[in-house]
Amino acid sequence: NWSMSSFIDKEIARIREMVGPTAQVVGAVSGGVDSTVAAVIMSKAIGDRFHAILVDNGVMRLNECKTVYERLRNKLGINLTLADASATFLGKLAGVSEPEKKRKIIGNTFIDVFEAEAERIDKETALKGQAKIEYLLQGTLYPDVIESISFKGPSATIKTHHNVGGLKEDMKLKVIEPLRELFKDEVRALGKLMGLDDELVWRHPFPGPGLAIRILGEVTPDKVRIVQQADDIYISEIRKAGLYRQISQAYAALLPFNSVGVMGDQRTYEKTICLRAVETTDFMTADWFQFPYDVLKRISNRIINEVRGVNRVMYDVSSKPPATIELE
Ligand code: XMP
Repeated sequence: NWSMSSFIDKEIARIREMVGPTAQVVGAVSGGVDSTVAAVIMSKAIGDRFHAILVDNGVMRLNECKTVYERLRNKLGINLTLADASATFLGKLAGVSEPEKKRKIIGNTFIDVFEAEAERIDKETALKGQAKIEYLLQGTLYPDVIESISFKGPSATIKTHHNVGGLKEDMKLKVIEPLRELFKDEVRALGKLMGLDDELVWRHPFPGPGLAIRILGEVTPDKVRIVQQADDIYISEIRKAGLYRQISQAYAALLPFNSVGVMGDQRTYEKTICLRAVETTDFMTADWFQFPYDVLKRISNRIINEVRGVNRVMYDVSSKPPATIELE
């Protein structure tokens, strides 16, 4: 793909020109295709003067931080630091059940943790006699740019934090956005061209506030465990059934009530998992996915048998609109 590979070359040249021979660059990575492609381009352009930061917010999917860290650091050679702030995030989320409050806490804590980490890196490089951090890499796409200008809905507030403009004023970093003229399919094509795994290139989108908005009501470590295990079973069965690419986004959520069940001759009173899977092109409207029943049955059996604390599984058959894709 000639135009895509010339895009990479041009972008690398433009970044080198802009950053110059000594300045340092920081950027957050999530393991999603946008931030990873942006990080690979930056790392090809300036090597270890690019410092990627992966923030563990305690509400990522099962083993996600570890997988992303290994993929980016060991496989893609990106100069990556893992900032494990899960205890801080979970501490601040304790007792909070209102969805927009959870989003705000996660957005603000993310910025605090990222800034502290960037400052630490800045001091460390200064000690080595290297130049300061002057630039911030962001994996903003064209639709993010448009959306942050035109749409100010509740979920866009945090999307703004995460994807566009990012940091507090006082850090005064200049923003570099290599993908800001591209659409998602073009970023996927770039990723494929740069040799990224199919699994990464085709990953379903994952919201910035993570599993916190998929645990309805208050977030606790045990609820995080339940939703992580259920989601992992769900997604791996979807992959095994060969349905992952057909589905635009799928996830398991934990509903905020207990219901009665029976196990052996014991009455149980446990949690319910809600499964959601949608097909969409723009995420503004979406249809629920029509699973083959046997696949749903296998997923439901596995979740109830394998995830401690769950005795019931439901499948969400609501389209968007009027329902949204997420439950919070
Ligand atoms: P809704 O629920 O609004 O979701 O139909 C549409 C798409 O946006 C994602 N989403 C978010 N992404 N921060 C994000 O980064 C958020 O607060 C947020 N809320 C929803 C959702 O996963 C879906 O892809």
